[in-house]
Amino acid sequence: MSHESPSPQAVTIPQLRGWVAEGRKLVMTTAYDSVTALLAEAAGVDIILVGDSVGNVCLGFDNTLPVTMAMMNHHLEAVARTKPKAMLMGDMPYLSYHLSIEDSIRNAGDFIRRGAAAVKLEGGAKRLPVVRALVDAEIPVMGHIGLTPQSFHAMGGFKVQGRDSEHAIQILEDALRLQDAGCFSVLLEGIPSELARKVTESLAVPTIGIGAGPHCSGQVLVIHDVLGLLPGKSPKFVRRYADGFELLAAALRHYSEDVRAGAFPGEAESYSLPNATTRAIQHWQSEQPDQE
Ligand code: KIV
Repeated sequence: MSHESPSPQAVTIPQLRGWVAEGRKLVMTTAYDSVTALLAEAAGVDIILVGDSVGNVCLGFDNTLPVTMAMMNHHLEAVARTKPKAMLMGDMPYLSYHLSIEDSIRNAGDFIRRGAAAVKLEGGAKRLPVVRALVDAEIPVMGHIGLTPQSFHAMGGFKVQGRDSEHAIQILEDALRLQDAGCFSVLLEGIPSELARKVTESLAVPTIGIGAGPHCSGQVLVIHDVLGLLPGKSPKFVRRYADGFELLAAALRHYSEDVRAGAFPGEAESYSLPNATTRAIQHWQSEQPDQE
């Protein structure tokens, strides 16, 4: 296990609180390896989430359910090694906080030992005991309610949540109870923007939205979505800030053409032999017996 201590100037929870109090929106993206972490850091995001979306985005699964703690730790370590100034958060994968309190603390503690400053977990009222236990163990927790991808089967797919009054009120209540249990922030995914506004206005802690409209205290997107790194159509809530896939595929096509045309590598990308070595080789060749 690699134990990275966070960057000494890393963003803290009191800083996040202060920024929200000043009216500054919080910016969060995912990262899964050192390249995506360095990109997020170069852009100055406030929070880097090593999301369990690594399952669909990087590992080729259809959803996040197959993602394990071992996979998450592997990716979190890679991100932590870049020592980001952003707050580093580990996303608790399916079954890492469902079995027992002891198991949950051990798993969340594994993220902290690897350099995370906080963890995120999905679910409302039923998660209160585990949230309290993690907070008691000095592990800051971000709650995650609304569309919770680990409840994929129970929700019957990835569907916007909280449209009817019963579920909308349940989301409001869950948010308040997560705050009372000690969550320093609550992520709202896939809910109508009016409901996200009500939740944000009801809470003293910041909300982070994804597919939850503009009224949250901050926003999160999967970094591959922001950069357009995945082929195909993006969901409605995504804004692509680059067509990364097409841009990078075009660069690779150019590379392939150059290799096939003998245009790469050229002089600029090649190493030269010192004259003395060239002479030594010529001498050696001249002394080789003629071969019939
Ligand atoms: O895993 C993930 O990417 C998430 C999103 C809400 C950003 O949890």
